[in-house]
Amino acid sequence: MTKLQKSKEIYESAKGYTVRGVQTNFKYIQPHPIYFERAQGSRIWDVDGNEYIDCVMNFGPCILGHGHLKVLEAVRNQLETGLTVGLETELSLEVCKKLTGMIPSAESVRLSNTGTEAMMHTIQMARAFTGKSKIAKIEGGYNGWSDDMLISYHPPLDKAGPADLPNAVPDSSGLRADSTIVIPYNNADIARKIISRNHDQLAALIIEPIMMNLGCVLPREGYLQEIREITEENDVPLIFDEVKCGFKPAPGGAQEYYGVTPDVTVLAKAIANGFPLSAVVGKSEIINVTDPVDGKVLYGGTYNGNQMAVAAASATLDELRTGEVQAYLNKSTHNLIETFHRIAENEGISARMQGIGGNFQTYFTDEEVVDYRSTFSVEKEKYDIFQKVMFEEGIYFWPAHLFCHGISAAHVERDLEKLCDAMEAAMSEVKK
Ligand SMILES: Cc1ncc(COP(=O)(O)O)c(C=O)c1O
Repeated sequence: MTKLQKSKEIYESAKGYTVRGVQTNFKYIQPHPIYFERAQGSRIWDVDGNEYIDCVMNFGPCILGHGHLKVLEAVRNQLETGLTVGLETELSLEVCKKLTGMIPSAESVRLSNTGTEAMMHTIQMARAFTGKSKIAKIEGGYNGWSDDMLISYHPPLDKAGPADLPNAVPDSSGLRADSTIVIPYNNADIARKIISRNHDQLAALIIEPIMMNLGCVLPREGYLQEIREITEENDVPLIFDEVKCGFKPAPGGAQEYYGVTPDVTVLAKAIANGFPLSAVVGKSEIINVTDPVDGKVLYGGTYNGNQMAVAAASATLDELRTGEVQAYLNKSTHNLIETFHRIAENEGISARMQGIGGNFQTYFTDEEVVDYRSTFSVEKEKYDIFQKVMFEEGIYFWPAHLFCHGISAAHVERDLEKLCDAMEAAMSEVKK
């Protein structure tokens, strides 16, 4: 058994002065959180000295691997400049320029700090631009923790309502959740009905083009194109939440990969390889509602475009824009999926792996996972066994059956081989 004694001691002491010893509820795991000491490349070491191949990658950002030398050097170069001066930097403009060159929807860019913040700005912009107030989102999608968005992320089935007309179910107390409309993923007919019925109230449809908060659920062929047509026909701005899938399948993200351009895109996570930075990019006429001279929306944030984050982003984008990283991640994911399916078949286990661009999840079911409701066919108990063995084998897998795992450009051949060996051991345990 992996020894986690020191993590346990830190947790016992931390409980006295912070909540369950974590600063985001998402880092809490049973029976206690694990505290890390350092990370480098594809590896992390916890405070007990255990070494893992990291397949969590801080929930998405570290696409180049931990402690990427060029990114760190770029940040180091900024440390002596006198941080957070109340003036703009040329470096932030460089990042905006690089984004307009990479992301198909990016005519204009505004920077922010986190995915949630950028999403909140985007919603205000969409409301100001359209003069409408409701927001449509996808059932099962996590788009940050704001009032409008923390709705029907993972609602209990007895509250979720009919599959073709889902209820808007708050995922937390403390939300003012009266302006969100919920739509199932991967079904354009239902989307058409709900959007056309509500179009005169809808300020935007927000969709994560690849659903990376249901594990990893890909859009059906033609689905995103249809969503684009439906939103255009109904005069509802289409917003892609590429916070997690951005930059992964292609330098221009899911929109480049699937050839569908939204009106606005929210980016974060991989944009700065682990430094906190996000961006709202899109049509100038929409982004311009935040014009400080004659716009309607106040776009603020003390740390927007801060030197640390933009230096990291500038160096990260240089690595990402050639497409080599994405080619490696897509190929590695494809190989992992093939290996997993071969192992499952040999063991006679009904299971599938779905993934793209370095992100993936294993599902213990014989049905394709296409939307939130279809995740209920997954056998959680089998995933629990699988995850525990992976962990014991030194692969940092997350104990939640709808988690989206990830590898980075720093996961080299021998890491992936170890990952495959661990999958073999884990599947044989599931079989037992
Ligand atoms: C798709 C998606 N959107 C938005 C967010 C919120 O981003 P942040 O945690 O940076 O606020 C997340 C976070 O995991 C996410 O996965």
